[in-house]
Amino acid sequence: MRIDIMTLFPDAVDAMMNASIIGRAQERGFVTIRTHQIREFTTNRQMQVDDYPYGGGRGAVMQADPLYRCWQHICDEAGGRVHTIYMSPCGRVLTQQVARELKERYDHLILVCGHYEGVDQRFLDECVDEEISMGDFVVTGGEIPAMALADCLCRMVPGVLPEESCYTDESHWNGLLEYPQYSRPEEWHGRKVPEVLLSGHHGNVADWRTRESYKRTMARRPDLWEKFDLTQVHSRHDKKVLAQALAEYEAAQRPPEDAGEAESAE
Ligand SMILES: C[S@@+](CC[C@H](N)C(=O)[O-])C[C@H]1O[C@@H](n2cnc3c(N)ncnc32)[C@H](O)[C@@H]1O
Repeated sequence: MRIDIMTLFPDAVDAMMNASIIGRAQERGFVTIRTHQIREFTTNRQMQVDDYPYGGGRGAVMQADPLYRCWQHICDEAGGRVHTIYMSPCGRVLTQQVARELKERYDHLILVCGHYEGVDQRFLDECVDEEISMGDFVVTGGEIPAMALADCLCRMVPGVLPEESCYTDESHWNGLLEYPQYSRPEEWHGRKVPEVLLSGHHGNVADWRTRESYKRTMARRPDLWEKFDLTQVHSRHDKKVLAQALAEYEAAQRPPEDAGEAESAE
């Protein structure tokens, strides 16, 4: 996969994208991320990329022409038009599902990072195929959203992570949140690791993780739980684990006195 990022801050993006797992994936040739300084495509001596907004108001707008020249340079190098995404709070919100779709459809993308008040609409109309938002909030520039999208896409490329389960056994892959994780020591600040994780019983550990994943999703993201397709829970065993999770979740919702009554009734 190749990702070209158009930005006013290539050094900041390179520093992040050349580090850690994504940096190593680039060194090993699984993915390529190239940044392009939009300023280099200006035709004025000051290398100015922005100007006042027509119609008045505060701030500055990134002009269409430097963006267009930068975009055209990348497409010329690629030998044709490349699917282009403008990182924008007005776009569709990035989810794991959106990232999966993009990864399946395209092996080359251009990500455009805006700044100031945004980008001249005419550049968007002419060159941009879609807009993607990092969430319903506004940040100063498109660099952090572009890096988040690039990282999310690259970690799904075969070879980047040791095996497929490294990204499929994670929150949001199957519509659920992940179970809690623990590492050494067994006890920290008086808090113990759940007994089952020390048992060495793989089946029980797997069931506990599934239950915790269900319960965490029910508690924290009822919107996701509502959409979770329960028909994919097939076997009798899996249905039992689901029923246990539901019972445990419901018990945890009851006020403490009810729980006490339930205990004494048993
Ligand atoms: C200060 S913002 C401009 C916000 C714009 N005036 C608006 O109200 O929609 C500057 C740049 O940051 C980026 N940006 C800000 N928030 C974003 C978000 N939630 N997702 C993706 N990009 C974002 C965009 O590239 C945008 O052009």
